[in-house]
Amino acid sequence: MSNTISINKKNKIKILDQRQLPFKEKYIITDNYKVVIAAIKNLSVRGAPAIGVAGAFASFLALNELKDKQNFILEIRRRLKQIERSRPTAVNLSWAIKRFYYILSGQNKTLDYLKKKFLQEALTIEKEEKNVSNKISKFGKNLIKNNYKILTHCNTGTLATTGPGTAFGIISYANKIRKNIKLFATETRPLNQGSRLTIWEAEREGIDNYLITDSMAGYVMSNKKIDLIIVGADRIALNGDTANKIGTYQLAIMAKHHKIPFYIAAPISTFDKQSSSGMDIKIELRNPDEVKKINKIKVTNAKKVFNPAFDITPGKFITGIITEKGIITNPYKTKIKELLSV
Ligand code: MRU
Repeated sequence: MSNTISINKKNKIKILDQRQLPFKEKYIITDNYKVVIAAIKNLSVRGAPAIGVAGAFASFLALNELKDKQNFILEIRRRLKQIERSRPTAVNLSWAIKRFYYILSGQNKTLDYLKKKFLQEALTIEKEEKNVSNKISKFGKNLIKNNYKILTHCNTGTLATTGPGTAFGIISYANKIRKNIKLFATETRPLNQGSRLTIWEAEREGIDNYLITDSMAGYVMSNKKIDLIIVGADRIALNGDTANKIGTYQLAIMAKHHKIPFYIAAPISTFDKQSSSGMDIKIELRNPDEVKKINKIKVTNAKKVFNPAFDITPGKFITGIITEKGIITNPYKTKIKELLSV
């Protein structure tokens, strides 16, 4: 497992810069919360659970640098809002930040006490995400049999979660105990999280892997090359509609057509009590240059570009959702309600 995000003894945050992978392993080391916000925005750190952990450490840094013991509450609240807004779709970020608002609403409002509490909370969130993705891996591995060919999209490994991963964690766990598993990873245009990150992680984990472009998925499915599809999630609504990396929706529809089980793997922190369906989920629109350029080189003279980072897969196309509390299947409404109320 790589060290996606950590904190050192001098209270500096160390973030593996995922923009430079797979060819360079460079770290961003900082005690400035604004640098962490920039790292979230520019995808140096990415993937819903990892964004939550980065947001938690940014919250600690934001408070830790404040000196005025009397007038800091308004300022830290303003900073938490800033962190929360750094990316809109992955709900794990606001889920993490809510925990810091909760600490601020407590009785003890002394700066020194709150600094300690913020650090503790950030470390707890990091630890929880690791444990949770371990549990997801263990539940999900039972879906995988010997000789399975599995397709995944985007990146859901340790880089996206800080633990073993969600969808990728399951595949990697199964690879250790099953025989002859093959992984088909989509390139995941425009930012190539599949070709740059998933393949890098698959190589490190010794998983037999094939890279395909996004447009090859239908052909690969129709040739009966795929037994199972597992992807992650950035936000799951109360009816099971799921926001995940752009391209997920079309994979789910093709999977239905070819009768291939299509699973989402995600922690409970990715479910959103405020979204009753996918219609309530805000989809992030990103810079057109991500589509116009490949490796900083312009490859088109297009003037207008539409670049949504995520799409919504309706719950009816999802065979099951693998969480740290077990696997739930369609129809989801009641099961998700039960899952979130425990
Ligand atoms: O834009 P990113 O790279 O942060 O998006 C991440 C994803 O959408 C992944 O597909 C993932 O499933 C969600 S995080 C495990």
